[in-house]
Amino acid sequence: MAEPDNLSDLEARALAELNACTDEAALRAWSAKYVGDKGALTAALKALGTLPKDQRPAYGQAVNRLKQTLLAAEEQKKAAVKEAELLASLNAAPLDVTLPGRPVSAGGLHVATKTMREIYAIFADMGFQVFRTREVEDDQSNFELLNMPPHHPARDMWDTFHTTTPGVLLRTHTSPGQIHVMRQFAPHPVRAVLPGMCYRHEAVSTRSEIQFEQVEGLAIGPNVAMADLKGTITAFARRLFGEDRQVRIRSSYFPFTEPSIEVDIDWPKDDPNADRLTKGTGWLEIMGAGMVHPTVLRNGGYDPEKVSGFAFGMGPQRITMLKYAIDDIRQFWKDDVRFLRQF
Ligand code: PHE
Repeated sequence: MAEPDNLSDLEARALAELNACTDEAALRAWSAKYVGDKGALTAALKALGTLPKDQRPAYGQAVNRLKQTLLAAEEQKKAAVKEAELLASLNAAPLDVTLPGRPVSAGGLHVATKTMREIYAIFADMGFQVFRTREVEDDQSNFELLNMPPHHPARDMWDTFHTTTPGVLLRTHTSPGQIHVMRQFAPHPVRAVLPGMCYRHEAVSTRSEIQFEQVEGLAIGPNVAMADLKGTITAFARRLFGEDRQVRIRSSYFPFTEPSIEVDIDWPKDDPNADRLTKGTGWLEIMGAGMVHPTVLRNGGYDPEKVSGFAFGMGPQRITMLKYAIDDIRQFWKDDVRFLRQF
């Protein structure tokens, strides 16, 4: 063992065995056998002491060179084995990197959002700004300031969710927003639409939900008249539903408007859904409206002797249902993409 000649034997054997390794386990075994602490190289180095002094430096250098050679060869073999293993695993379960990726859906606007934006755009053209107001209201704004004192029987028209804090409720309509707008702008003229979610304590059915959107409209100024309300609504209906729409006005009752009206539009008779949508009458209700009650004007900070105003309130979900013949209002807040994708 202690002869330099043995070193070249050792080298030849080690390299041949290294060459025969085909996996990492074999490489580990080879490493222990030749270059590890208890391996052949360590043993060869120990033999140094048995050599005559003058041969030791040359032998020591030879062992070190051999060590470098074997370590370098081991590194190379390791990399080759790794690559071979990777190749084998790729071949076992082929991966087609040329397959196109799955397209990421870009998504889209909810149909309710689309209707809302259409409504804003139409009213913006007529000079109405969008004004947002709170969904959690107090009894004052939702009822009292709208001319409905406690115990007023008209409150029954709005089944209300009350919170555990007395006098705090979820708004049943966007009309309390009228008060907020007026108090911000009085005594100046104002034209605004007030969109937002409303809540009613009702049995959920195909036609009513406990939450739904409304768009309130309010215009106040000198000499604002019923004719302005009628013209505004007619222009709106024709933009949204078509140029030929006829508008019908029926008298109605709301505590905060006087006189109060309900607005119908005629529905094309050749539409196969016409009978179902209009219950056979040919007319379709789209909103409640009226001239702002003097008491409400006063509560908002205006002088009813100097200005007058009109207000309307509509349900965009209802309008969307009519427009697209959607027969179940519960679809709106369900997350069924099959429904949503249609729009
Ligand atoms: N707030 C009323 C409702 O929810 C609608 C309405 C608004 C009526 C404005 C008149 C004026 O039924």
